[in-house]
Amino acid sequence: MPTTLITGANRGLGLEFVRQYAEAGWRVLACCRDPRAATDLAALAGASGGRVTVHALDVEEPARIETLGRELAGEAIDLLLNNAGIYVREGRFGELDLAAWERSFRVNTLAPVRMAEVFLEQVARSERRQVVNVTSLMGSIGDNQSGGSYAYRSSKAALNMATACMALDLRPRRITCLLVHPGWVKTDMGGAQAPLEAPESVRGMRQVIDRATLEDTGKFFDYEGDVLPW
Ligand SMILES: NC(=O)c1ccc[n+]([C@@H]2O[C@H](COP(=O)([O-])OP(=O)(O)OC[C@H]3O[C@@H](n4cnc5c(N)ncnc54)[C@H](OP(=O)(O)O)[C@@H]3O)[C@@H](O)[C@H]2O)c1
Repeated sequence: MPTTLITGANRGLGLEFVRQYAEAGWRVLACCRDPRAATDLAALAGASGGRVTVHALDVEEPARIETLGRELAGEAIDLLLNNAGIYVREGRFGELDLAAWERSFRVNTLAPVRMAEVFLEQVARSERRQVVNVTSLMGSIGDNQSGGSYAYRSSKAALNMATACMALDLRPRRITCLLVHPGWVKTDMGGAQAPLEAPESVRGMRQVIDRATLEDTGKFFDYEGDVLPW
């Protein structure tokens, strides 16, 4: 039975990833900032017959990432799924909120890379050996037609570059690193106007992840399997 570790598993796309991987028979190490408040996740875990376990993790705290790495030292993690992310409103050009921008980098860029560093051995000893970073088309420089969203766009663009580096660095260990864009999805982040529902987006991303081999390492896919421009 394969195992996945998912960050930001208490709501939105993360919760839907937990639901679908658990239904498909995977073991799920579901991480969230505040397990006591994560009632939907607790319900999924309770109904999973022990396949879903819940772990406290604020990805903005590197020391906590390291502690969790020690707590889960004995695991083999087939799929490290860095899903947690934030979209902050940092204001307009001329009055940008630099603290909000820095926080975006901590959560959206530094944390996924630190997770991969800390959980490297658990991924390396698994069968599938995949690290998947949930990014956004808004991080594509080539696709940027509208400007704005400095913090979100630049933190995801930096995540894209870091993942491209990781793909090269980890290839000798036969670890596949992917970037996936979920589409524009109805979640707290995507909002009610979004055209896609979370189950459809996550089904698509799971297919992309499932089909990917080491030959795909470093690629930037959307949930339908199309390769996106950098
Ligand atoms: N929805 C879209 O249209 C869309 C489009 C492109 C990309 N994405 C990406 O998809 C991923 C999931 O987004 P979503 O739409 O599901 O967003 P969401 O509904 O806002 O959920 C975000 C998740 O990230 C968690 N999170 C935020 N900061 C965290 C931290 N410091 N430590 C641990 N967890 C943290 C949240 O936990 P709390 O409940 O504790 O805050 C929540 O579980 C993100 O990386 C996002 O950038 C989404």
